[in-house]
Amino acid sequence: MNIRRKVMGLQLLIFILVLVPLTLLVDHQVRDLYVDHLIDELNEESEKLRQLPVDDQQHHLQSIIADLAEVSVRDYLLLDQRGKVVISTLPAEITEELLDRDVVQRVLQGVTGTSTHPPSGMEDLFYFNAGPIKGTEGEVHGALLLFASMEPVNKALTEFRLMMGLLGTGALMLAAWLLYAMAGQMVAPLLKMKDVTGHLANRNYRVRVEVGGEDEVGQLSKSINELATRLQHHEERQQDFLADVTHELRTPLSYLQGYSQVLEENWVQDEEERKRYLALIVRETRRLKRLVSELTELSEIDADGLKVERVKTDFAEIVRLTEAKLLPAAEEKGIRLRVERRTAGSLLVIGDPDRLEQVLFNLLTNAISHTAEGEQIVLRYRVEKKELHVQVQDTGAGIPASDLPHIFDRFYRVEKSRNRERGGMGLGLAIAKGIIDRHGGQIWVESIEGSGTTFSFTLPLA
Ligand SMILES: Nc1ncnc2c1ncn2[C@@H]1O[C@H](COP(=O)(O)OP(=O)(O)O)[C@@H](O)[C@H]1O
Ligand SMILES: [Mg+2]
Repeated sequence: MNIRRKVMGLQLLIFILVLVPLTLLVDHQVRDLYVDHLIDELNEESEKLRQLPVDDQQHHLQSIIADLAEVSVRDYLLLDQRGKVVISTLPAEITEELLDRDVVQRVLQGVTGTSTHPPSGMEDLFYFNAGPIKGTEGEVHGALLLFASMEPVNKALTEFRLMMGLLGTGALMLAAWLLYAMAGQMVAPLLKMKDVTGHLANRNYRVRVEVGGEDEVGQLSKSINELATRLQHHEERQQDFLADVTHELRTPLSYLQGYSQVLEENWVQDEEERKRYLALIVRETRRLKRLVSELTELSEIDADGLKVERVKTDFAEIVRLTEAKLLPAAEEKGIRLRVERRTAGSLLVIGDPDRLEQVLFNLLTNAISHTAEGEQIVLRYRVEKKELHVQVQDTGAGIPASDLPHIFDRFYRVEKSRNRERGGMGLGLAIAKGIIDRHGGQIWVESIEGSGTTFSFTLPLA
């Protein structure tokens, strides 16, 4: 069942639940009110008539009633003290039937009575008032009965019911129409969203939902659009990544092809030069190997499959190992590598020692390759607010401000051609960031072109 139909059904139910009892209640109230009023009028009239001065024969009253009957909607029955009919405006058989009633018998004994029980065949006559006519001494001279017709009430009630019916149907139809339109308006964006998500499922990420308003539906369309943007971005990045990978593979491969061809065709006579070509082949092969292993690592980080061990590790030990590995390279370049531990005590972090060592290794090799002879690199670490803070600071070439926001992107290199000579493929920082992210830390960079770079990261302490 669609939403529209549900809304309409609900509306109908509410209408029935509210309108029907309401109509019945009003109907009942109107009737009661009218009847009360009628009873009062009847009582009053009867009282007045019975107080008129009478003689034995009631001639006076008789002629008044005869006159009254001409103009009144009521019926009158006047009896003498023995219960004989003096004047009756009712049909004879009904008068007969009435005379048998207790209330008529009692009224002749001086008791006032009323009845709502209509005589048979005159269902419209619903009420009568029976009152004794008394003389000055209290003796009963006769009885006067007044009958009110229910017909005007019934007519009014029929009209009222008809009107309520018409009004109710009108209101129902108007509300139905409004609801139908409103439900349509509410459903339309949902249908559009269904459309858009269908496109997204088919990998068409350019579609967007028109966002209308700040309500729940509007928020949902916003979320869907965000999702679409992210998917689109993701797809684009994937395509870029694939293009980068292909490019990075192609370059060393064509070098390899070229160099080996030279050797194969014996164009080089000189042994020295032959060795130079072989060295180039080895270099490119190494590059390829590194590229493949870095890519493997990246894909593991991506697939959440990065095997990050979670063990308590002494960070100072990781620093010592990395320092030992990189000191020769730094010395060879004439760079001073200094380690500053700023906090005493335990520096236990929970994480994967190999991966963390790799982060330090990537940052330090970058620093070494971008720092000139005679300069220095400082690796500083300390505990601050229950976190480990690590800084790798160099006084090297620095990074242009326009490159800084992209520095952690995959395959992002400042001055691609220059860096290729140094062997970088732009994956080192992306991997470092991936590892730090997975450890629940943060990594960032500050750099001033020409005067140096500082990479910082934090790690939660164990
Ligand atoms: N300490 C540094 N000083 C100057 N430039 C740096 C430094 N570290 C990284 N970079 C720049 O950031 C780029 C990305 O670094 P990275 O992801 O390690 O890739 P790679 O080292 O493979 O080129 C490098 O190409 C380099 O231009
Ligand atoms: Mg690097």
